[in-house]
Amino acid sequence: MPNVTFSSPKMRRDLTVYAAAGDRKSILGVAREHGVAIDCECQKGECGSCTVEVIHIGNKPPMAVHLTEKEKLTLLTSGKLARQEFEELELLDLAPRYRLACQYLLLDEDIVVKF
Ligand code: FES
Repeated sequence: MPNVTFSSPKMRRDLTVYAAAGDRKSILGVAREHGVAIDCECQKGECGSCTVEVIHIGNKPPMAVHLTEKEKLTLLTSGKLARQEFEELELLDLAPRYRLACQYLLLDEDIVVKF
């Protein structure tokens, strides 16, 4: 069961929630379930308003490293991800620091979500 910790200056304190592994919920979906207000407009991976920083914690290598095509395009066009950085990360099978909360599907790994 993954732990997801939400952290933001907008919150009085960090909130850690337990998401059921295999539920295939997005960060945004879990945030909403627990009353965490991450900005979002389109919920389709197109506007970039839900961009968050994701930090993997624990000893396991990051699992959710693959971006959807919409997520790649939106992060590249918004400047949150440079083309060269993206290509280097993809070669190493690593995830970028910034992700779209509406597109990032939770896997069985502990993360901190900053927004
Ligand atoms: Fe628009 Fe996530 S809400 S990209």
